[in-house]
Amino acid sequence: MTLTVPHTALAHLEEQVQDALRRADDSALDVLGYGEITLVLRLRADEGSFACKRLPVFPDRDRFERYRHSLDAYLRRLADRGLTVAPTEVWHTAGPSGRITAYCVQRELPPERLCSRLLHTEDETWAKTFFARFLDRVCAAVHPTLGLDAQASNWVDIDGELTYLDVTTPLMRDDHGRELLDVRLFFTSLPWILRDAVRVSVAKSIFDKFYATRGVLLDFLGNLHKERLDALVPAFLEQANARLAEPITAADVASYYRDDARMWELIQRLRAADRLWHRKIRRRPYPFLLPPPVDR
Ligand SMILES: Nc1ncnc2c1ncn2[C@@H]1O[C@H](COP(=O)(O)OP(=O)(O)O)[C@@H](O)[C@H]1O
Ligand SMILES: [Mg+2]
Repeated sequence: MTLTVPHTALAHLEEQVQDALRRADDSALDVLGYGEITLVLRLRADEGSFACKRLPVFPDRDRFERYRHSLDAYLRRLADRGLTVAPTEVWHTAGPSGRITAYCVQRELPPERLCSRLLHTEDETWAKTFFARFLDRVCAAVHPTLGLDAQASNWVDIDGELTYLDVTTPLMRDDHGRELLDVRLFFTSLPWILRDAVRVSVAKSIFDKFYATRGVLLDFLGNLHKERLDALVPAFLEQANARLAEPITAADVASYYRDDARMWELIQRLRAADRLWHRKIRRRPYPFLLPPPVDR
């Protein structure tokens, strides 16, 4: 399925975002979902309804083109490894300074088919068959050079087919384990302390888990705590461990979740402080749309 991104409607959406940032008030925006890093906006147009994920602003065309190529490569590699990915296009507009604002755009998929939702609304039998299909997908896709952020909120289940949504941050590494992503750019919403001093080691600890099946599964299971779905952990552990050389224990999941929650809490606090600094001290608009604090 191809996607024709409605240019005028997106340009209008970007104006609304600019306005929201200037006024430091995003209450008028139509929010489709929250991730750890971004807000996903809904765009209703004559052509249908779209999910629009705003990227960090690119300082020049070259940085943007590199991103676009890496996203294309990521989509291709995921498809080659058998994953169904929501068709995704990049829309962009260039500002007078040469800076480029861009969005990843997908068709809006039915929110009630989001797997994090279905795990609440369906029964345990559904959950087990879901998890078996999920394990097939994850085991086939993940590779030391190809990562996946497989938490339940990144998948929809439509007509018995799991579709992966969260491709905005292409997770690919070279043969030396170096991130191909423009990590610096993607961390610009984090305060300077994270961008510079701690950047490399933090990036490594954030990303490592996505490149190994065990790490991806540990992250998925840990996030069930955040989704208040802990009751599913024992059954899922049994299914997961049947496929892993080094089994995961319930204690591993709990301690992983504690560490992960602490890290994101710290990042959120630092970001909130940075936003305050922009607005109150420097008296400049804060340039990012942030999700609200998550209750962990
Ligand atoms: N194509 C889509 N259709 C419907 N909802 C979506 C779509 N893409 C994202 N969402 C919603 O937005 C949330 C965050 O999107 P995601 O792509 O996972 O971004 P992030 O990288 O911030 O996690 C998803 O969990 C989902 O609720
Ligand atoms: Mg996500």
